[in-house]
Amino acid sequence: MWHAQGFCAFVILAVEFEAQNSVKTKITSYLTFQIMQFNPGFDIKPIAKPMGFSYGNETFGPDVEIRTLDAIRKSLWDPECSGPEQVYAIAMDVGKIKHKEPLEQRHLLFGVVTYAAGTLGKEPVRSQGHIHKKSDYAQGWSTPEVYEIWSGEAIIYMQESANDYPGRCFAVHALPGEVVLVPPGWAHATISANASQPLTFGAWCDREYGFDYDDVRAHGGLAFFPFVKEGKIVWDKNKKYHGQELTIKSPRIYTEFGLEPGVPIYSQFESAMEKFQFVPRPDLYQNQWKQFVP
Ligand SMILES: [Fe+2]
Repeated sequence: MWHAQGFCAFVILAVEFEAQNSVKTKITSYLTFQIMQFNPGFDIKPIAKPMGFSYGNETFGPDVEIRTLDAIRKSLWDPECSGPEQVYAIAMDVGKIKHKEPLEQRHLLFGVVTYAAGTLGKEPVRSQGHIHKKSDYAQGWSTPEVYEIWSGEAIIYMQESANDYPGRCFAVHALPGEVVLVPPGWAHATISANASQPLTFGAWCDREYGFDYDDVRAHGGLAFFPFVKEGKIVWDKNKKYHGQELTIKSPRIYTEFGLEPGVPIYSQFESAMEKFQFVPRPDLYQNQWKQFVP
C-alpha cells in the first residue's frame, strides 16, 4: 500500500489488459489489496515526497519531524555513506479528533513513523536505541511500547538492560498487521528489515514519553549491530557488552494483555479504552512482566 510508483505500474498494466476481462478483474482486486493491505483503524496515510502523513477530516496530527541523512551522519557506522536524503519522518500524537480527550485522560499517545527505503551504507535504516524514561505517572516505572507494523518489514530489537550484561536479547521480525510489545525498562530499537520498501509503523506510548540514551551510548550502541548483507539483516556482537546471545523470532499474541490478533491496535483502543492502560501504568501489571518473552 501507499507506494505511488507501484500503484502507477499497476494502473498501466490494468490499461494494457483492459480487453481481457478475467485478467482485469484479478488486477483490480490486486490493486485494492495494495491500497488496503493494512487499515490502521483511523484515516491516516503515509506519503512519500516530502515524507510524512496525510490526515483525514476526522484525524488530528502534528506537522511531521523529518530527519535527514546529514543530520544523523555522526551516529552512523560510516558517516560518509550514501543513502536516502530524508531518512525518516515522525508524527507523535495522532488519532481521531473525537478521541483527543479520552487519550489525554488515559495518558496515552499514538505515534507514527515512516522509514525511507534503502540503506545507510551497510546499515539498515534504524533508530539509535533507547530506554523509556521512568515516569511519575507510572509510579517510577519505565513505560512499555506497543508497536504495530503498517507496511514494509520491521525488526524490533530489544534487550533486558543496557548494563555490561544485557540479559536476554531478542530480534522480533514483524510484518504488516503484526504487533510487538517492548516491556518496561528494556533497551530497544526499530530496524527496517527490507531495504526495498519503506517501513511504516504505529505505536502506543505513554503520553509523557521520554528517552534515556545514557547507558546505550556508554556502550556505543545496543548489544548487537544490524547490517544488511545480500538483502538480509545480519548481526555483529557489540564487544562492549558481555555474554549476549540473540534470539530471533516472530511476534507472538499477547493474550495476557487482552490483545486481539488481526485487529488494529487503534481499533482495539476505540472499542475498549482501558485495554492499553498497561502502557502508562505498567506498575499495575507486575505479574505479566515477570519473565516476559517478547
Ligand atoms: Fe521506544
